[in-house]
Amino acid sequence: MRRAVCPGSFDPIHNGHLEVIARAASLFDEVIVAVSTNYAKKYRFTLEERIEMAKETLASLRGIVVEPVGEGLLAEYCRQRGVSAIVKGLRSSSDFDYELPMATMNRQLSGVETVFLPAEAHYLHLSSTLIKEVFTLGGNVAEYVPRSVLKRLVAGGPAPGQPSRG
Ligand code: PNS
Repeated sequence: MRRAVCPGSFDPIHNGHLEVIARAASLFDEVIVAVSTNYAKKYRFTLEERIEMAKETLASLRGIVVEPVGEGLLAEYCRQRGVSAIVKGLRSSSDFDYELPMATMNRQLSGVETVFLPAEAHYLHLSSTLIKEVFTLGGNVAEYVPRSVLKRLVAGGPAPGQPSRG
């Protein structure tokens, strides 16, 4: 059984994530979408909401499990779960610069390899941060997020501390 993990905050999950996760699922027997909480980050959605949105969106795909990463090291999580590879999408050279030290550290800590998949051209510009900003300022993000995410964005209104769209 070749098991991979796609880790991230997924605040919220978007179509660029989904594309990478689907490609990972075609390469591995099982893909764990591991939803993390980084205490240095301020999230729009709770961990439970981020997990629910990922589950709702990925329900129709086989071989995909969604769960929280927990508070420890991703390398340790991979070791405990028998994960052979961490899969990450790369949108740009700055993604690569950010990811390379983590990939090396994770391999040195636990032997787990990181596999980079080049992001699909249509999604190169997407990030959860940009989607939240565009939505909050009244832009249409329907093309970039799954329906369940759009529903929750709309239900939540503009993010706290952001200008009202009224
Ligand atoms: O979507 P994000 O916030 O960029 O995801 C970052 C993530 C989850 C991949 C990273 O923060 C992570 O690996 N967190 C787990 C804690 C850890 O292992 N830190 C050391 C990394 S070498």
